[in-house]
Amino acid sequence: MGIVTTTEMFQKAYQGGYAIGAFNVNNMEIIQGITEAAMEVKAPLILQVSAGARKYAKHVYLMKLIEAAIEDTGLPIAIHLDHGEDFEVCKSCIDGGFSSVMIDGSKHSFAENIALTKKVVDYAHSKGVVVEGELGKLAGIEDAVNVSAEDAAFTDPAEVEEFVEKTGVDSLAIAIGTSHGAFKFKGEPRLRFDILEEVQKRLPNFPIVLHGASSVIPEYVDMINENGGKMPGAKGVPEEMLRQASRLAVCKINIDSDLRLAMTASVRKHFNDFPEHFDPRQYLAPARSAIKELVKNKIVNVLGCDNKI
Ligand code: G3H
Ligand code: 13P
Ligand code: ZN
Repeated sequence: MGIVTTTEMFQKAYQGGYAIGAFNVNNMEIIQGITEAAMEVKAPLILQVSAGARKYAKHVYLMKLIEAAIEDTGLPIAIHLDHGEDFEVCKSCIDGGFSSVMIDGSKHSFAENIALTKKVVDYAHSKGVVVEGELGKLAGIEDAVNVSAEDAAFTDPAEVEEFVEKTGVDSLAIAIGTSHGAFKFKGEPRLRFDILEEVQKRLPNFPIVLHGASSVIPEYVDMINENGGKMPGAKGVPEEMLRQASRLAVCKINIDSDLRLAMTASVRKHFNDFPEHFDPRQYLAPARSAIKELVKNKIVNVLGCDNKI
């Protein structure tokens, strides 16, 4: 089917009460694991690339690997820039073949966020590319931004209509209590579904995006620790909360940390079980399988986007 935008995916997801998985990709094994899983369960897919991923693997390698995955699987795949910091990085990804970009103006004032987002939307739409904006600030660490828990801020529903109207964005990421990374909740996980519901009321039929949505799967954290790693136990977003968000207006659910945990757990276990191995294929093949199993489980048991092609 080729590279697609998220427009049709989101319309169907909104109506159907499910969400599309947006998985971060950094190398071939991750791309193969995710796309093979999605192919087996017939799920539309968003593969997203951060500034850090572009620095690590280079834009052209990721682009060609995703094109290869599309040719290999026949899936409809949107290629999305995750957390674009400024106009230039968004333009570079639009010019470089992405079908979707995020402009993350959440660290700016409301007015500056609107101006920056609108500039990206105007350019993107002229090239047939869709744009995700963000209102509210998630805690956690991404390549370019490190937001402490104190600086994080829930989205103010009173701002969403003006933001969407003035910018023309195609989807909106909101902050309702999730955070980036493997350490999300110190106490019991709690999400502000009241904010999501209010946003949905104010923006009917409009796709909402949930960042920081990894569940920090305990089996993988345990496997890492049992095999020489050192990860403090932390709670991620419970799967039931993700299902609830998917039934509401959330159409895109971002997952990166769980992929990292699955891959690292597999590699650590492999080296413990087979200390004599030194061929990268010996440990990367099971790591790729771990990614595949994780993504299949997310699609079928959490996101509900299987059999939606
Ligand atoms: O939201 C951030 C993603 O997990 C990407 O992380 O910037 O380290 O590639 P990264
Ligand atoms: P996690 O760190 O919870 O996987 O979130 C990833 C994300 O939001 C990417 O934009
Ligand atoms: Zn994010």
